[in-house]
Amino acid sequence: MLKVIQTTLQGPLLRAEGLFDHPFGAHWNPMRQLGTLSFFFYWIVAVSGIFVYVFFETSVTGAHGSIEYMTVQQWYFAGVMRSLHRYASDAMVMTTVLHMSREFITDRYRGVRWFTWFTGVPILWFLYGSGISGYWLVWDQLAQYVAIGSMEWLDWLGIFGEPIANNFLTRGSLGDRFFSLLVFMHIFLPLFLLFIMWIHLLKINRPRINPPGGLALGSLLMLIALSLVYPATSHPPADLGTVPTVLGLDWFYMILYPVFDTWGAGMMWAAALGVSMFVAFMPWLPPLRRAKPAEVQLDKCNGCTRCFEDCPFGAISMKPRSDGRPYTQEAVVDPRYCTSCGLCVGSCPVSTPFRKTDQLLSGIEIPGLTLRLLREKVDAAVAGLAPPDPAGKPGVVLFGCDHGADIEQFQDGSVAVVRIPCVGMLAPSFIDYILSRSGAAGVMLSGCRDGDCYHRLGIRWTEDRMDGLRDPYLRERVPRARIRTLWAAPNEPGKIGRGLATFQADLAAAPADIQAGEPADKPAPAA
Ligand code: HEM
Ligand code: SF4
Ligand code: SF4
Repeated sequence: MLKVIQTTLQGPLLRAEGLFDHPFGAHWNPMRQLGTLSFFFYWIVAVSGIFVYVFFETSVTGAHGSIEYMTVQQWYFAGVMRSLHRYASDAMVMTTVLHMSREFITDRYRGVRWFTWFTGVPILWFLYGSGISGYWLVWDQLAQYVAIGSMEWLDWLGIFGEPIANNFLTRGSLGDRFFSLLVFMHIFLPLFLLFIMWIHLLKINRPRINPPGGLALGSLLMLIALSLVYPATSHPPADLGTVPTVLGLDWFYMILYPVFDTWGAGMMWAAALGVSMFVAFMPWLPPLRRAKPAEVQLDKCNGCTRCFEDCPFGAISMKPRSDGRPYTQEAVVDPRYCTSCGLCVGSCPVSTPFRKTDQLLSGIEIPGLTLRLLREKVDAAVAGLAPPDPAGKPGVVLFGCDHGADIEQFQDGSVAVVRIPCVGMLAPSFIDYILSRSGAAGVMLSGCRDGDCYHRLGIRWTEDRMDGLRDPYLRERVPRARIRTLWAAPNEPGKIGRGLATFQADLAAAPADIQAGEPADKPAPAA
């Protein structure tokens, strides 16, 4: 059932995201920055909250007036801060819910990702609690409605000696001490939220926490503009002697209150807890998927730490050497967090195809596609290329990943196709190997859509290795004109087709020394 929902929604999501690529570009696309935007909105809420607190009066009689003062007299500063505080909180709900939905639809919530998904669920509760507790502090009629509703909800649990809703029974029953407790909750809940947001990222290596500068600035300016054009306002002051009748609810936070009025507290708790439990345990629902984890080949591992640095899921740790060889450390894989993406294979300095077959072993291997199998696969694909023909299309080896566009359809006499779990699995020496040893004129690397690598860091590490920014580097001698990268979503095979045609045309028009079958340099000697 979940799988059906997921696959049904994948196409529309990819298309919707694609629409944002045009105005924003791949890296600024807000749909691919939902986690970072949630963080960014949190910071706006925190900073604007500090300013609002400076003007706020912590008393039942003074709270509403102090907020009115901000909105009316101090509209140009404190008023803007108040509005920013509210709108950034709303924006955070929106980006968080979209972020969660996107992780589900793109199937990034199961397997080793269970921890990040599971810790996302309490985030929702604390986010909700933080927002609701903020609305109490305005102490207007909306606050009255929401506070009484919330207290009745809590009272249903029967954990408080005396019903806390009694604090709202009559005019004058709400004291400043209880009001201060509400203020304390509005400070404590967001701080705890931040703590869980930190836990949420513990199993993610190098998480992207901040959105790109331009996107952040644009979002901030948009919220400031909204605050100026449509400032946040209050309802009339709360009056416990009357029942508010006409209220403008903030649907981002208050959607459950009308439901609560209809269903009652028992049903509400059952629904909220039931849905939360279901969502939290979704990673363990069938179909379960468990890849065989990477295995360290200790006699090849020199403890260089590169795989440890590059693993996107923190599955590798460096431990003291256990085999007496003259190195201080060795890599150890925690199978619980390994997705078998192969990025560690691509980063290992031992992963070079320039070796005799019996020595072809990396320091770390993924069971389904060892270094030896990968070279065999590459050799077999290259062997299928038609012999170089000056009149024909230059031969290209096209690599693609399991999560990007389908590349098999491009296989023909001039295109040899090799599929790998993630483009980041390919050590740069493979490109050198192909271009210096085979008749192929070029190598094209394709993978998931730009900025959206399924294994998080595959595209980033590949580009950095090509650009000489990250070990293992692509050797200087390899002509960059014979290599091309192209990132495309599963629904964009046409992009690959067009990219291939352009690449082959460019290769055909290139100077003779970088054309088909011309090694850039002498081939490296087999080790
Ligand atoms: C305050 C709210 C949240 C913030 C700020 C937040 C932030 C983030 C960030 C920064 C990442 C790392 C992205 C990356 O670098 O690859 C991430 C990943 C993730 N988040 Fe959240 N998140 C929030 C809420 C949630 C919720 C409610 C869920 C689901 C219940 C969730 C599920 C996930 C999952 C499954 C990943 C892993 C993605 C992957 O491994 O590719 N998050 N989140
Ligand atoms: S296969 Fe991927 S997840 Fe597993 S250890 Fe290697 S880099 Fe980490
Ligand atoms: S990258 Fe290779 S050699 Fe370096 S620590 Fe990891 S397995 Fe060992």
